[in-house]
Amino acid sequence: MVGRKFFGALFSIALAGLIQGTQSQDVASKDCATGVHAIISRGQGAGDDLNVMEALSDKILDQIPGSTTLGFPFDHDAEDKFTAVHSGALMLQNYVEKYVKGCPKSKMALIGYSLGAVLTMEAVCGTSSLLLIPVPPLDPSYNTTVIANVVYGDETFVPFQPWNTGNCTVGAGIFPRLNPSTCEPFESSLHSYCDYGDNQCCSPLPMDDNHAHHTYMKKYDQDVVDFIKERLRS
Ligand SMILES: *[C@@H]1O[C@H](CO)[C@@H](O)[C@H](O)[C@H]1NC(C)=O
Ligand SMILES: *[C@@H]1O[C@H](CO)[C@@H](O)[C@H](O)[C@H]1NC(C)=O
Repeated sequence: MVGRKFFGALFSIALAGLIQGTQSQDVASKDCATGVHAIISRGQGAGDDLNVMEALSDKILDQIPGSTTLGFPFDHDAEDKFTAVHSGALMLQNYVEKYVKGCPKSKMALIGYSLGAVLTMEAVCGTSSLLLIPVPPLDPSYNTTVIANVVYGDETFVPFQPWNTGNCTVGAGIFPRLNPSTCEPFESSLHSYCDYGDNQCCSPLPMDDNHAHHTYMKKYDQDVVDFIKERLRS
């Protein structure tokens, strides 16, 4: 009996957490973005939900009037990055679905860096990398609402895709996406930045201590804002 009560209590706590998580994108219609609503997923590590992506969030808010941004509260501090990606991707899909329900006229941008890049690509395209825990793709009907999907240093990167945007042309990520065609419904919104010298998305090319994995923000944040602006106009 005690055992059952204990598990019952654990279950209620888990459920409460789930409900709270899923409701956090319930937005009052007066708060719906008239610019873009950007959900930004950071890399692995402790601390706040925007971390090195704060500058990009600020640029979006400054340069695209009527915008809102959210540092995506996935489990970025988890030791197990596979479950962090899996649960984060499912949660991101849920956030998109909830936000579109509450704000059907708003446009969205999904942005991710490093571990956040992996979960963002998983949420949009679904899983086709060995080792990653399977997630289904986002329903293609969201491709009129989600007008930008931008990632930096994605470990599921594969060469020769129309959305590849950095200077890495022939390397691949450490969990290469075996079937990138599942991303195609979102092709016009996708930009995947991967540079030579980033061991995580562009292995095995020049080893320079993964330096390029840390320079995307400075190098490309403004391009990302310009891309979102262009996508909002089209
Ligand atoms: C959305 O996806 C559908 C199905 O793949 C495709 O026909 C359509 O062109 C896409 N729309 C946009 C805006 O990319
Ligand atoms: C690619 O970008 C990285 C990071 O900015 C830079 O270090 C490298 O020199 C660039 N490589 C080429 C071939 O342009």
